Amino acid sequence: MQTASSKHELRSQLAEHRGKRIVFVPTMGALHEGHASLMRQARALAGAEGIVVASIFLNPVQFDNAGDLATYPQTPEADLAVCRCCGVDFVFMPTPDTMYCADRSMVLEENCLSNVLCGARRPGHFAGVCLVVSKLFNIVQPTDAVFGKKDYQQLAILRRMVRDLDIPVTIHGAEIVREADGLALSSRNVRLTPEHRAAAPAIHRSLLAARVQYEQGTPAAEVCRHVIDTLFRIPGVRVDYVELVDAETLHELQQPSRPALLAVAAYFGEVRLIDNVELPALS
Ligand code: PAF
Repeated sequence: MQTASSKHELRSQLAEHRGKRIVFVPTMGALHEGHASLMRQARALAGAEGIVVASIFLNPVQFDNAGDLATYPQTPEADLAVCRCCGVDFVFMPTPDTMYCADRSMVLEENCLSNVLCGARRPGHFAGVCLVVSKLFNIVQPTDAVFGKKDYQQLAILRRMVRDLDIPVTIHGAEIVREADGLALSSRNVRLTPEHRAAAPAIHRSLLAARVQYEQGTPAAEVCRHVIDTLFRIPGVRVDYVELVDAETLHELQQPSRPALLAVAAYFGEVRLIDNVELPALS
C-alpha cells in the first residue's frame, strides 16, 4: 500500500494504472468497521486487475458546526492499518492547505435533494460535501466510488451530482453496518456517554418497529410519531427530525406505491446521530 499527501504525488502514483478499474472510497478518517466494509466492497469490485484508492481527509468545508469539527476523532495510524487490512492499494491523505486555495471561490450547490432532512438543518453541509467529492473525483479519476447508505441523503446527492455534471463515475451504495445491538456504526459513537451509548440502539429498534407498522398500513405521520415518542422518552435526547419520504426524491411521499425512506436524526447529548431504514413500495 502506498500513501500520498499531495495531489501531484497521488497523480504520479496512479499514472501507470490509468485504463484499469479504479474504485475509490472517500472518508474523513476515524475509520471503523463501516468504512472497512466499504473498502472490502471496493476491493471486490476492483478484482485482482483493478485498484482501490481511499482518501482520508477531514473536510473543514462541510462542517456547519465548529465544535463538531474540533471534536471529530482523528486516528491516522489506526486508519492506515484498516486500509491495509482491507486491501486498499493507495491512500490519499492531503492537508486542508493542499486541498483548498486560501482564496477559493467556487461553490457547488445541489438545490433539490439538499433542501430537506439533514440539508435543511445543516446549511452548507452538502455543498461542502459536493465540493470536496468533486475535487477528489478530479484528482483520483476513479471509474467507481463506494458510499454508505447510513448517509442516505449524501449518497442520493452525489448520485445527482455525477448525473447532472456528467462525471464518469459509477456510484455504489453500501448497506449500513451495525453493532450487535443495532446501533449504526459512526465515527461519532465514541463521543457518546456510557448512558447514551446504552440508550442509542433505541433508534434502530424504533425504526424496525416503524417499518412493520408502515407495512401494515399505518399512516406515515403516525409511524413517525411513534419513533419520536420512543426517542423523546430517553433522558438527554433531542430529536432533530423523523421523516418518512420518497426514497428517490427525498421529498414528501406522494403515493405508498413508491419506495420510501424513514430517516432519523437525534442529539444524544452533544452527539448528533443519524440512521434510516428503507421501506418497500406498498401495493
Ligand atoms: O461521508 C463522509 O465521510 C464524507 O462526507 C465524505 C464523503 C468523505 C466527504 O468528505
